Amino acid sequence: MNAASGMKQRLIVALDLADPVRARTLATLLAPEVGMFKVGKQLFVNAGPDIVRMIHHLGGEVFLDLKFHDISNTVAAAAVEVTRLGVKLFNVHASGGPEMMRQTAAAVEEVCGKEGLRRPSVLGVTVLTSLDGADLEALGIPGGVPAQVVRLAGMAQEAGLAGVVCSAQEVREIRRVCGDSFMLVTPGIRPAGQQAGDQKRVMTPGDAVRAGIDFIVVGRPIVGADDPVAAARSVVAEMTGAAG
Ligand code: C5P
Repeated sequence: MNAASGMKQRLIVALDLADPVRARTLATLLAPEVGMFKVGKQLFVNAGPDIVRMIHHLGGEVFLDLKFHDISNTVAAAAVEVTRLGVKLFNVHASGGPEMMRQTAAAVEEVCGKEGLRRPSVLGVTVLTSLDGADLEALGIPGGVPAQVVRLAGMAQEAGLAGVVCSAQEVREIRRVCGDSFMLVTPGIRPAGQQAGDQKRVMTPGDAVRAGIDFIVVGRPIVGADDPVAAARSVVAEMTGAAG
């Protein structure tokens, strides 16, 4: 694997669109350029599991970003169906608790063994970036956002999850506590010199690679570009340059 193809595998494009036809057009263009596509609630609710099958048909991999949070039995049962869809990554809210995460990880393991399926990596969502310390306080969680993020990341690791979705600001502390083999997936990435938009805490693709992030999630800078292929190539080039 050369350096550029290695970095390509670490780029996830967020298909944040409602229209499956547009999503298909973009996925067709970008499948040779990027490692994975993130399918979130908007596209999944509109297009259903067929959108995942379509991306697989194009040779792409899928991060199914549905952020499950429910009683353990319900999340574990949903995780089995997600596993049968063949996605590479999916996520649950770590605040659903250790038992919910443990049962989910165990159910994934079991169905893969029984049905000979590829094992997806299960990620925990720690504290949503839309929440701040005051919001946590109102929810009865004192101590601030960083402490809660690290607590939930440790809990996710202990419960058998593969990694967490985290913001650029949290990478160093999570790495310190959870070690190098814990998978870190980070959105809020903006190529050097671009508008941050509504993302408050951004990081460039180069800095993300230097910080040891495993996968970066990029939406609008690629999906909203006049030339999405050129935009994706330029992100990969920036990542490759940082790795060299
Ligand atoms: O367009 P943009 O690059 O900001 O898209 C980032 C993607 O990552 C979006 O799908 C967004 O919902 C998601 N995300 C985020 N911040 C988080 C968690 C997920 O931007 N903390």
